Amino acid sequence: MKEDIVLELNNINKTIKDQQIIKDISFELYKGEVLGLLGPNGSGKTTTMRMIVGLMGITSGEIYIKGHSIKNNFKESIKHIGAMIETPAFYPFYSGYKNLMYFSRMLEGVSKERVLEVIDLLGLSNAIHKKFSTYSLGMKQRLGIAQALLHNPSILILDEPTNGLDPAGVREIRDYLKRIAEVEQTAILLSSHLLSEIELICDRAIIIQNGQFVEAIEMSDKIGEKLFIEVVVKNIQDFESSFSESKMNYTFEMIDNRTIVFEIDEEDIPLLMKDLIMAGIEVYYVTRKKERLEDLFIQLTGGNVIE
Ligand SMILES: Nc1ncnc2c1ncn2[C@@H]1O[C@H](COP(=O)(O)OP(=O)(O)O)[C@@H](O)[C@H]1O
Ligand SMILES: [Mg+2]
Repeated sequence: MKEDIVLELNNINKTIKDQQIIKDISFELYKGEVLGLLGPNGSGKTTTMRMIVGLMGITSGEIYIKGHSIKNNFKESIKHIGAMIETPAFYPFYSGYKNLMYFSRMLEGVSKERVLEVIDLLGLSNAIHKKFSTYSLGMKQRLGIAQALLHNPSILILDEPTNGLDPAGVREIRDYLKRIAEVEQTAILLSSHLLSEIELICDRAIIIQNGQFVEAIEMSDKIGEKLFIEVVVKNIQDFESSFSESKMNYTFEMIDNRTIVFEIDEEDIPLLMKDLIMAGIEVYYVTRKKERLEDLFIQLTGGNVIE
């Protein structure tokens, strides 16, 4: 697995004017992976990304890109990186196509075919000859991602690419990023202050707060993980007397005098419903509880920090 690491941060620190903004952050990014950098505003996401792409110096620690230290071998390491940090700057009165062609001429070895390829990859073909100023926010972001991919980097760094997008726009970006990770085998590091977006898009997330590593979360763990189902019944006494004693093999917790939360595999839910009805329990509502990841994020970062 070590050879699949495309980006490595080792004990990174950043101090600006005596203020320690990044404290000892370490993580790895693997080939083909979509990794989220999740943290509230001001937690140090942009600063971390600016150091990775060389827009900002590192106070101490090492960053390796495909095994090259960015301190010692900046030229070799930086060519593997494509980035969109803050809003991309395009010429508003040029079409998307003209903008991309303009940028491609500043890069080495980017053919017109490659420009057309990234346009297709980001689903921009229909709008590519329209002026940039007429693009929706989602299209602007996609053009920014297309630009970052022009030189076929192994690593794509995106700072808050879904910021300001509506849920449909977020889903669209998610679909395109998944496609990029699959088709081009690009490793993607993206930041967000919203757990819900990271949860939708990423395979794994690193949570940071106050410039410090808090926790790494594997999203794919959630696949096959038990679900939490909230069942509201007429009264809990009926449930207690007829269901609990029937020695059924369910894991549950009684929350109040009408509510029971079951921890269960999705495929076992129909059977649970049948068992409840057969036991004569009057069921009013059944709802799926939100993933506990949200509780975890709030708990880890201390409450009022999702925005
Ligand atoms: N150039 C700078 N000079 C001084 N402080 C900075 C500078 N850049 C960022 N900071 C501070 O570093 C912290 C992290 O900022 P930033 O990386 O932008 O966080 P995020 O992207 O997670 O919102 C904030 O407290 C911010 O005020
Ligand atoms: Mg930021």
